[in-house]
Amino acid sequence: MNDPNGLVYFEGEYHLFYQYHPHDTVWGPMHWGHAISTDLCHWEHLPIALAPDAQGACFSGSAIVDEYDVTGLFNGQPGLLAFYTCHRVLSDDPEDYEQSQCLAYSRDKGRTWHQYANNPVLPASGFKDFRDPKVFWHAATQRWVMALACGQEIHFYTSDNLLDWQFASAFGEGHGAHTQHPWECPDLFELPVEDAKNGQVASRWVLIVGIGATPDNAFGSFTQYFVGEFDGQHFTNDHSPDDVMMMDEGRDFYAVQSWSNTPGRRLVVAWLNNWQYANHAPEAGWRGMMSLPRELTLRATSSGIQLCQRIASECHEALTAVPHTIPPQAMLGVGQYSVLTSLPSVSRGLLELTLAAGSRVALSLQQGDHQQLTLEAGEEDVALRYTRNGVNGQVAFDDHFACDHAAGSVDGLRVTVEWWCDHGSLEILVNGDTQQRAISQVSFISLTTGSIDARVLEGSAGLLGGSVVSSKGA
Ligand code: FRU
Repeated sequence: MNDPNGLVYFEGEYHLFYQYHPHDTVWGPMHWGHAISTDLCHWEHLPIALAPDAQGACFSGSAIVDEYDVTGLFNGQPGLLAFYTCHRVLSDDPEDYEQSQCLAYSRDKGRTWHQYANNPVLPASGFKDFRDPKVFWHAATQRWVMALACGQEIHFYTSDNLLDWQFASAFGEGHGAHTQHPWECPDLFELPVEDAKNGQVASRWVLIVGIGATPDNAFGSFTQYFVGEFDGQHFTNDHSPDDVMMMDEGRDFYAVQSWSNTPGRRLVVAWLNNWQYANHAPEAGWRGMMSLPRELTLRATSSGIQLCQRIASECHEALTAVPHTIPPQAMLGVGQYSVLTSLPSVSRGLLELTLAAGSRVALSLQQGDHQQLTLEAGEEDVALRYTRNGVNGQVAFDDHFACDHAAGSVDGLRVTVEWWCDHGSLEILVNGDTQQRAISQVSFISLTTGSIDARVLEGSAGLLGGSVVSSKGA
């Protein structure tokens, strides 16, 4: 699998469709796979929802509830609509293709899908890369909006009936990160600003944009976001055009999409992988997985309004068993400190540390020093570095897999590290309650147990304590 697609909540069920090649473990003619959940944690596989037809393969897109049957496809009842990109190869050369936007509908809670007879709803344009429609209702202008990736820009279209679409505006030139790769997988939504004080804005719009892997970019594919205003037609960036804000500083967090129809909450999920090695990383009869679902808000920080992410509360509730307490300890000088000798592979945990100015502390969070977070304290802030090594030499499949990179910084010398560890993945949230950094990486190696060690490389630190919860045989 690759991208999450068509995320929508409808009649008590979260739907998660995804880019899927059913006949191989490498990317190929794309279908939409399908799973549903009532609690965002336990998922049930359903049959393939969309398969390639005469229009082409089914690339990424989104889903919404047509509550009042504005399309006329549902006999006056509410129904589900999926907007997706048809990718059609025009000759023997796979690079000779065109992309258009198509519609599919379901009258039975997503169990069966029909491709709309008058597809495409938005024909191929002058842009070769013209894909990944994200459709949502814009209440202030009482219209539907489609955000679409076109070359290295996001284009906005509007519609009254979800079938006819008019171009509104383009955003992107001169803003944020650009590589040789087209922009992909946009999402756009309004979010409250947490703890907004008098005189501050209470909400802003967030535009999420993916950038694929190209040889000119060692990081591979990554997700950036913009904070600004959207008036139903145009997006205006609040930040300086040169600012690049990463949604997650890890190597494996791509094609982020939010669920539609979850009033009061903005939940997202991402593909935990990187196009740099996705097609040749170790596999075990399957390849590719999703991140845990995250809930988003915004927060005013010293560098402007930024995203704040929390793992969805349903996942906290699902991991309920066997709590361990991590006692406080002083780490008074250079050396190795054992924090927890046996870390279950399926667990979440929290550590709180204070660093003396100028100290450096490396935390190993999975087997040995396989995945390591280094905290480098300045006078008033802590810079984060992330290192991923191999276990038993299992990194040879790609030169880019082992990595060591800066992962942002947080204000103050007191740091909270929250981690969610699965057999082959690790999602870390640093300073979840204030100014947050997220780092997500996969290992492709089935880990059964690990440990947490803190190595003081320079200076001293205090571990204020923490806790780990491991799941009951999950
Ligand atoms: C992003 C992406 C999308 C495209 C899909 C094809 O990972 O390249 O732009 O729709 O994957 O599988």
